[in-house]
Amino acid sequence: MSRLNIGRDHWNGSWGNCDGTSPCRRQLNETIMKRILVTGGAGFIGSNFVRMVLSEHPDCFIVNLDKLTYAGNLENLAEFLEYQNHKFVKGDICDGTLVEKIVDEYRIDSIINFAAESHVDRSITEPKIFVETNITGTLTLLEVARDKNLERFIQISTDEVYGALGPEGKFTEQTPLSPNSPYSASKAAADHLVRAFGHTWGVKYNITRCSNNYGEYQFPEKMIPLMINNALNDKELPVYGDGLYVRDWLYVYDHCAVIWQILQKAPPGEIYNIGGCNEKTNLEVIDVILNRLGKPKSLIKHVTDRPGHDRRYAIDASKIISELNWRPSVGFEEGINKTIDWYLQNQDWLGNVVSGDYQKYYESMYGNR
Ligand code: NAD
Ligand code: TYD
Repeated sequence: MSRLNIGRDHWNGSWGNCDGTSPCRRQLNETIMKRILVTGGAGFIGSNFVRMVLSEHPDCFIVNLDKLTYAGNLENLAEFLEYQNHKFVKGDICDGTLVEKIVDEYRIDSIINFAAESHVDRSITEPKIFVETNITGTLTLLEVARDKNLERFIQISTDEVYGALGPEGKFTEQTPLSPNSPYSASKAAADHLVRAFGHTWGVKYNITRCSNNYGEYQFPEKMIPLMINNALNDKELPVYGDGLYVRDWLYVYDHCAVIWQILQKAPPGEIYNIGGCNEKTNLEVIDVILNRLGKPKSLIKHVTDRPGHDRRYAIDASKIISELNWRPSVGFEEGINKTIDWYLQNQDWLGNVVSGDYQKYYESMYGNR
């Protein structure tokens, strides 16, 4: 890994000391087909994406730009930090000079922007950083994409930009944006900027609006890993309100796979809803977790609701299904079991992320709830 160190060794057609014994050693004459700047690649979805691409598409070169906030964790990518077609750079997407330097030095052709402040509850207590990273950061990346005439800019957005649904209906790409939380408002603002840069300067973009992801390496502030961690430790499971809020859950690998397809095949200017066709109430999901871990339902504790809590999200994914022939490959039962097993097998990882600041966060968020 070269961290904060922008070198040139990887793009002159030579892979240096190629001994053929490790996955990071490639053939001397291998041709790199894509040079992507992935932002937020040390977070949950970004690290799963980086892992997938490095494992399945060795002709791709990735620069991974991440600020390493509380949510960024290089342990998520431990075995991939030595890959010669992966360069990690610690930095902020709001730093235009750094982003421009990376794009020039590494001859980047596309940006995929995962970097964000991503947790609704934190956006309610501290909205400002959401404006900085999610809006100013996206604007900064867009300016570089425009000035360097990049082949593609993919904005990883969220279904939450559409607001909330009642018991019926689904979000389509035509649903008006009506975000309810500071998080979703900042993501919607970023979506508008992306579209405006396409309209005004011809930036070639796609926007993805995906439903709730779950899977390996998710930080335990989000519902599923938080409930797994608490149940493992026989701690109460804090269910907001009546627990009948509905989310459409998608296994993270399926999200990553479709982002790759969009990069390869989607025409510029298209926005895609992505969902798992898998609506569940929070209590239904928690029930599965408790059963798998053999823990009692008495751990469930209904607590004060989240202010402005969106009742239901549901996705009409027919556009991406018909245009890119994509379907989720992992059903909920398989995905949630794999996820729970992963947390069981990676309790060191979990122990590290819930030490230190996490305890303070947990106390401030749940202490008086
Ligand atoms: P995450 O919080 O796990 O990771 C975010 C990453 O961004 C972290 O590694 C963090 O260090 C990095 N980051 C934060 N601020 C940064 C900055 N200013 N500069 C550079 N890096 C910065 O988030 P996630 O769950 O992996 O979500 C990734 C993206 O997908 C986000 O844009 C989010 O809005 C979107 N999304 C998430 C979900 C979900 O269910 N998690 C669903 C749909 C869309
Ligand atoms: P979350 O994982 O924060 O995702 P989002 O709010 O972006 O959909 O929450 C998923 C659902 O779980 C949401 O309805 C809020 C609920 N929830 C709880 O009931 N308790 C919790 O401790 C958390 C974090 C979430």
